[in-house]
Amino acid sequence: MKNKEISIYIHIPFCERKCDYCAFVSFCASKNVQDEYVNFLVKEIEDFKTDAVVKTIYFGGGTPSVLSEENLQKIFDALNRNYKFKKNVEITIEVNPNSLSEEKLKFYKGLGINRLSIGVQSLNDETLKKIGRLHNKEMAINLVKKASLYFDNISADLILGLENEKDVYKYAEILIDLGVKHISAYMLEVHKNTPIFDKVKNKTFLPLDDEEVANEYKKLVEFLKSKDFNQYEISNFALKGYESKHNLNYWTFGDYIGFGVSAHSYISGKRFANADNLKDYYKKIVIQDENNFQTEIEERLFLGLRCESGVDLKILKKLGYDITKNENYEKFKKENIIFEKNDKIFLNKENYLVSDYIISHLLPDD
Ligand SMILES: C[S@@+](CC[C@H](N)C(=O)[O-])C[C@H]1O[C@@H](n2cnc3c(N)ncnc32)[C@H](O)[C@@H]1O
Ligand code: SF4
Repeated sequence: MKNKEISIYIHIPFCERKCDYCAFVSFCASKNVQDEYVNFLVKEIEDFKTDAVVKTIYFGGGTPSVLSEENLQKIFDALNRNYKFKKNVEITIEVNPNSLSEEKLKFYKGLGINRLSIGVQSLNDETLKKIGRLHNKEMAINLVKKASLYFDNISADLILGLENEKDVYKYAEILIDLGVKHISAYMLEVHKNTPIFDKVKNKTFLPLDDEEVANEYKKLVEFLKSKDFNQYEISNFALKGYESKHNLNYWTFGDYIGFGVSAHSYISGKRFANADNLKDYYKKIVIQDENNFQTEIEERLFLGLRCESGVDLKILKKLGYDITKNENYEKFKKENIIFEKNDKIFLNKENYLVSDYIISHLLPDD
């Protein structure tokens, strides 16, 4: 793997409290459980050998900011002992407003972390409470203010479609005025087996309907455009130079290794994932993804058409799919829904909201 580059994802599954809408592998855990996990994580890092140069590291969760300084240091020591880093390696940590002190911010800076992803979700206190967040608007704003004393590259997550949230763009405005350079805006997903699912069912929580969410999204897109935030992916917006290199690597099919419970990897065309529960993860159970070409074609279309990178026609052909022969291809081109440039195809951004429909009509027949 000489001269190659790789990204690293590290999953930290701990949270102070589980939010009502969240289906990520995340839970509350005692100090002992966290210590045991980090020791195992360190072993996993030691066991993975590569000559590739690390270009990005992403601590995701869960809530990585829940980790003690000692445990985070242990992980960094293992990374430093085992890998070579690119000079401008991007190191991101997901944090939330209830688990981050100024001391921790300084500590992160000292470790070499240079990008923060802050889970703001909403700046409406009532809504934050309703979805089970442990912080309020003021705590989120204070964190962004404090964080910007130490970090330039700050991203904030917002959720679209929450009750009483027709003004997400106003939250974006507040965050941008405080120095946020990147916004991720996700549409609320109501997963089975989460408390919000029952609340929606018994009508104690009323999310926006599809049309309202679409309007909210369009308003946000327009607003961010007016602030020079480029929409470089369906849910991601950034000032020039502040795009997440880590996510760009996923969307352009770069290699990445995932450490930790439920972490996914993609190396030299092979996909695999660690078990999604601690018991099996500690048994080193790895799930191999069947890497058949059909899956790869679908993934390339679903990932590539939802971001600015587009999809390489030659790669699709190599995988055995000449998309230009698809019966909908010329029609979508004529209607300016998709366009071709330098042997790549792109989805016009105005159609991001209906991307599922378009892409499903461009897939190869089974
Ligand atoms: C892995 S989560 C962790 C971030 C951090 N623990 C926090 O909550 O602040 C990353 C992001 O996914 C989004 N997210 C999680 N569950 C979601 C859901 N059901 N629907 C939409 N967005 C969701 C939230 O915006 C969240 O900040
Ligand atoms: S949204 Fe974040 S804090 Fe809430 S449960 Fe999920 S990972 Fe934990």
